Amino acid sequence: MNDSQTLAVIVTAIEQVTPLIKHFTLAAADGGALPAFSGGSHIIVVMQGSLRTHRNPYSLLSSPQRLDSYEIGVRRMEESRGGSHFMHDHLKVGSRLEIAHPVNLFGLDKVARKHVLIAGGIGITPFLAQLEDLAEGTAPYELHYAVRSPEHAAFIRRLQDRAGERLRLYYDTADQSIDFDGLLSAQPLGTHVYVCGPAGLINRVIDTARRFGWPDSHVHWEKFSAPPVGDAFDVFLARTQRSVHVPPDRSLMESIEAAGVEVPYLCRGGVCGFCETRVIEFDGELVHNDHFLSAAEKSSGKRIMPCVSRARCTRLVLDL
Ligand code: FES
Repeated sequence: MNDSQTLAVIVTAIEQVTPLIKHFTLAAADGGALPAFSGGSHIIVVMQGSLRTHRNPYSLLSSPQRLDSYEIGVRRMEESRGGSHFMHDHLKVGSRLEIAHPVNLFGLDKVARKHVLIAGGIGITPFLAQLEDLAEGTAPYELHYAVRSPEHAAFIRRLQDRAGERLRLYYDTADQSIDFDGLLSAQPLGTHVYVCGPAGLINRVIDTARRFGWPDSHVHWEKFSAPPVGDAFDVFLARTQRSVHVPPDRSLMESIEAAGVEVPYLCRGGVCGFCETRVIEFDGELVHNDHFLSAAEKSSGKRIMPCVSRARCTRLVLDL
């Protein structure tokens, strides 16, 4: 996937659903059906800001059975580098955007005997679409949704309609919290757990599941966060013969794209492996922030994932 493969869409509805979250509905600019997807899929929204192009991933929350539009929820991030503010402040009904085709890196396991879904805040969005897929299947499920307070609980009516008594809500303001040990210590064999939300929640679920002997293949997580910042550095692209400066607040991939060179991507979060790039030469340290390369691959210094990884060096040459 790269930007030459994007689709044009029009914003057809915007709703403020909590003080921090807006709900956007997007339809194909040509009026046709949008590409099919399954619950857990995300799209990359390409936003042309005045100073930079933002490309942010958002989970599709609409029903996979409806392809006349896509729906996404966008939380205004305090520490935003511009993408969520652009979505909140600049988009209007009728605005035109480019999006990348849906990709699912957080799908439901088809042979799971049970599904345990755990969401924190805006992390509820992929589960909204997955509830539609779960309604079609026979495996039981339960959904645990933790939020700051009732006014911050987005899409509650829709969740209650779809999940009914399988939905369990936890409000920080009421001192309610998920009993991770209780939840993950007593599930039937063949259960899969899925978690989406802040890094602390994801790490807690992964650590608890490991402690109770869950196989890694039964623990699924999705985290969308801005690429890590770091020191500025320069990179030379050997195939396209370009020198690119990477400032502290822009990722290696964003800087290369800003120089007009396309890098393939799916997740832009260091998970899918699609952007894996060969390192030809470097004279310092590669800062690997991805979850894709093995420890041995990282220490070999031969590969880098430019969507999230950086370098501390004076010379870096990539095969791009
Ligand atoms: S785009 Fe997925 S790992 Fe970089």
